[in-house]
Amino acid sequence: MTETNAAQAGPEPEATLLSAFDVSVQFGGLRAVDQVSLTVRRGEIVGLIGPNGAGKTTFFQAISGFVKMAGGIVRFCGERIDGLAPERICRLGMTRTFQIVEVFPSLTVRETLTAAAMVRLPLARARELAEDVASLVRLGGKLDLTCRQLTLPDQKALEIGKAMATQPTMILLDEVMAGLRPSETDEVVALIRTLRDRGVTFLVVEHNMDVIMGLSDRVAVMGSGRKIMEGTPDEVVRDPKVIEIYLGGEFELA
Ligand SMILES: Nc1ncnc2c1ncn2[C@@H]1O[C@H](COP(=O)(O)OP(=O)(O)OP(=O)(O)O)[C@@H](O)[C@H]1O
Ligand SMILES: [Mg+2]
Repeated sequence: MTETNAAQAGPEPEATLLSAFDVSVQFGGLRAVDQVSLTVRRGEIVGLIGPNGAGKTTFFQAISGFVKMAGGIVRFCGERIDGLAPERICRLGMTRTFQIVEVFPSLTVRETLTAAAMVRLPLARARELAEDVASLVRLGGKLDLTCRQLTLPDQKALEIGKAMATQPTMILLDEVMAGLRPSETDEVVALIRTLRDRGVTFLVVEHNMDVIMGLSDRVAVMGSGRKIMEGTPDEVVRDPKVIEIYLGGEFELA
């Protein structure tokens, strides 16, 4: 990436936490993410939607350092982070959950959260933070259960807890609500709102339209690797291009 490109990305307003500029990812002959730009301000909840295979997860992987970008610039808290390893990016304050719940089944909730907290803290303080985070995500009474003993909603809470234990400024959530019943989904939505009120910024991929439209301050839409549009939830559900993508699909735009 050249400095000329960096200059084109332009100066950022104070409130900008994440800015991705022209991010591309190439898998062999497939351009999975094609020049996607997206800005997230501090304290926002931004939704990212699009049909299966649109490139949402790959975009997350690119900005969090898990896949190599074919091009583009990513700034987080004013620093260039493109090309950095995921651990470095996580220590700078951006963390992500995985679309497939990733827990070690034989570890306890306490061990899992402590391990995540050790990204920043020595063991003794990581253990303390693990307890605080467990209470925050309503797993305070389940600290000594193993992950395989947890229900699906509790596993999802643990995913969010693992992210919180790294003391992030921003969390990327990839379909954390998939597979949950409506009442369980409501609980996760309430948890995300609580964490936002405590200062965490969110970029959220979710297929449930009611959830994403109710939760997000702004929504960006991807299709075939490209960003198709972004706007307020109201603007997005009325956009002809978005309606066309979803028409006849599995989604209903209320
Ligand atoms: N590691 C990989 N190697 C090759 N192709 C990949 C890889 N990961 C994803 N892809 C392809 O890249 C495209 C984008 O996939 P991605 O998983 O980012 O979509 P998505 O929007 O997250 O979809 P979903 O809603 O189903 O999770 C798809 O065509 C997918 O098959
Ligand atoms: Mg995905």
